Amino acid sequence: MKKISTVAELGQQISTWKRAGKRIAFVPTMGNLHQGHLSLVSKAKKLADKVIVSIFVNPLQFDDKTDLSVYPRTLDADIQQLSEVECDVVFTPTAEVMYPNGMEEQTRIIVPGVDDKLCGQARPGHFDGVATVVTKLLNMVQADVAVFGEKDYQQLLLIKKMVADLDLAVEIVGLPTFREKSGLAMSSRNQYLTDPQRIQAVEIYRILNAIKTEIEKGEADFITLEQQAIDELKQLGFEPDYVDIRHAGSLEPAKSTDKMLRILLAARLGKARLIDNIACELK
Ligand code: PAF
Repeated sequence: MKKISTVAELGQQISTWKRAGKRIAFVPTMGNLHQGHLSLVSKAKKLADKVIVSIFVNPLQFDDKTDLSVYPRTLDADIQQLSEVECDVVFTPTAEVMYPNGMEEQTRIIVPGVDDKLCGQARPGHFDGVATVVTKLLNMVQADVAVFGEKDYQQLLLIKKMVADLDLAVEIVGLPTFREKSGLAMSSRNQYLTDPQRIQAVEIYRILNAIKTEIEKGEADFITLEQQAIDELKQLGFEPDYVDIRHAGSLEPAKSTDKMLRILLAARLGKARLIDNIACELK
């Protein structure tokens, strides 16, 4: 596995592969890799001949400076893990490489309709930062396919819309959330949890599934289901941000006649802001 940190060297590697007719898959990450990321890498390898993983903690997508400063950076361990799976290039640009004229001067990508709800409300500017960095990375990497996790479901929809709206020549593939045995969705932010909080955090997946069961049984009063879940999270010691039942494609509040639903949840537990979501598909 090659480690590349400049756009010029990355460009040379990609030209060589393209000349040889190789298909390229891309997995963008912010590092602190876990099994969830590695599952994206192994899917990427099934979809292409060559796999590029980027590791860049993108300052543009952090609305909270403290969150950015404490975000776990574990580059050596990440590179070690990637060298043990089928990753051909790890791209590790600095902020100067990504934003040579500084962040204030950086042209931004805004994805209307997706960026202003759910996590977009709680984290102003977050999705502009995501859309901007992903566009830049996609342009640098020139991949045929890019792989993202469904754990960040709103992000996945945002990127799919952005790629369609900007006619970017890349296929976006979403993969189901990778979970611990307990059901807890894998996330770099789980390491902010204490041991008792980690046990408590499992309640998130249980509550999501309880909502799904109620809907499958015919409950169509979504507002009440959402409110009950919020109350339950509070009782359990979480600070809920939202529990929402949405249309899986538009992320608009779900109607009782909708068939393809997504149940999404964000809540703080101690130092961690945890997000999770599950599909609920009705016949
Ligand atoms: O999901 C992430 O880790 C980040 O939001 C991404 C897509 C790598 C952009 O910085």
